[in-house]
Amino acid sequence: MTSDTQEMGVKRSAKGLVARDGFSTSLGVLAATLGSAVGLGNIWKFPYLTGENGGAAFILVYVIATLLVGLPVMISEHMLGRRARADAIQTLRVLAPKRQPWWLIGAAGCLSAFLILAFYTEVAGWVFAYIFKALTGSILSTDPTQTSGVFNDMATDPAQSLIWQWVVLAVVGAIIMLGVSKGIERATKRLMPVLFVLLIAVCVRSLTLDGAGEGVKFLLRPDFSKLSGEVLLVAMGLAFFKLSIGMGTMITYGSYFRRNQNIPVTASRVMLADLSVSLLAGMAIFPAVFAFGFSPDAGPSLLFITIPAVFASMPLGEVFIIFFFVLTAIAATGAMLSLFEVPVAVLNEQLGLSRVKATLLTMGLLVLVGAPAALSNSTLDDFKLFDKTMFDLYDYATSNILMPVGGLFLALFVGWVWGYDQVKSALSNDGALRNERVIRAFFGVVKFVTPVLVTLVLLDGLNII
Ligand code: PFF
Repeated sequence: MTSDTQEMGVKRSAKGLVARDGFSTSLGVLAATLGSAVGLGNIWKFPYLTGENGGAAFILVYVIATLLVGLPVMISEHMLGRRARADAIQTLRVLAPKRQPWWLIGAAGCLSAFLILAFYTEVAGWVFAYIFKALTGSILSTDPTQTSGVFNDMATDPAQSLIWQWVVLAVVGAIIMLGVSKGIERATKRLMPVLFVLLIAVCVRSLTLDGAGEGVKFLLRPDFSKLSGEVLLVAMGLAFFKLSIGMGTMITYGSYFRRNQNIPVTASRVMLADLSVSLLAGMAIFPAVFAFGFSPDAGPSLLFITIPAVFASMPLGEVFIIFFFVLTAIAATGAMLSLFEVPVAVLNEQLGLSRVKATLLTMGLLVLVGAPAALSNSTLDDFKLFDKTMFDLYDYATSNILMPVGGLFLALFVGWVWGYDQVKSALSNDGALRNERVIRAFFGVVKFVTPVLVTLVLLDGLNII
């Protein structure tokens, strides 16, 4: 969800000075943080990466990365943000010793948010297009050629690709400019449980299809021969992308946390809830992939070609598929609002542009930078940098380089610069909580385990060692 001015309880004076009064309830904190974490990452990216990288073994590495890297970095971000009560750049400026450039983590985070939006808006565009397609005609079919045909017609058409991306940009930009994020977020809070229930229903259908067993095996029986340095990096990158960490978004959220919020508990809940949505999406998709004879390594199209087949074999599927894509669009919008807020806040607070101008400028830049991603399946499918289309390059550079490097430096900052005493007072809420064991475990992991793991996986995955 967004760090929208009202929702996050921020009051701005006419001069743009920020006075923070934070979330009013602990449930509000959880819902807002989850709103940023849950999105296309769970429903689109997790399943397709699992399919491309061999199933259960990939999931296992992803879960380990979430526990040993994702959770500690998320706790660190919440903790630093709440201590400094400022945006990512300012937080690191205030907390770091003078003249040490740790604030660069926040600056790199702005670039990440921008590049993520450049391809995320395209995938969201596909989701929006599928709502429209589901409303105007049947897209349900259990025939892989048919469902991939619908997807390819859309994704390989330059005009459709650009227009749907612009529709998404216009919707998200309008929500921010009209200041109605608060309403959207309230709706999101109520609708996310509905998405959860719908996913469970899809899982039940998928799991009871003839031949679903192969899909369950794919999800549960690890084949470690599928793992390589590159696969480990992709799994770790997914952990960063999923939890919206390594780029300062969660520092900003932490800055609105309440004084008595139990940070390790909150972060663990967010991590577990987010993980369950991803696993549910996997359970909804893979049994059907195998039952209908689709190919698990279809890549980014996997969600769009499989889901119509599951609904095709469900009573009232034509109606439920509309709900499914509407709810997915809402989850994606929540995540995009939190991403948009990063460049908009910087333009607003650092360069003094009004929020409307800052939003318009961000939208304009995204039309330019997003177009090469939107056209990666059509006009620009042959245009490659580092052997990747621009869509893949934005995705790869953010999840597998920028966010892990950001997370590495955050862990190093907390473990080696900020130090145990500050961590202890911050995470025990200045002694109010009796959670010294948890703090010690966290500190050991963030000081030694996280940096070593991230460094090794980065060096190995990027073929440096
Ligand atoms: N976590 C979001 C998802 O999984 O869809 C994507 C995301 C949102 C990444 C916000 C980073 C971010 F700051």
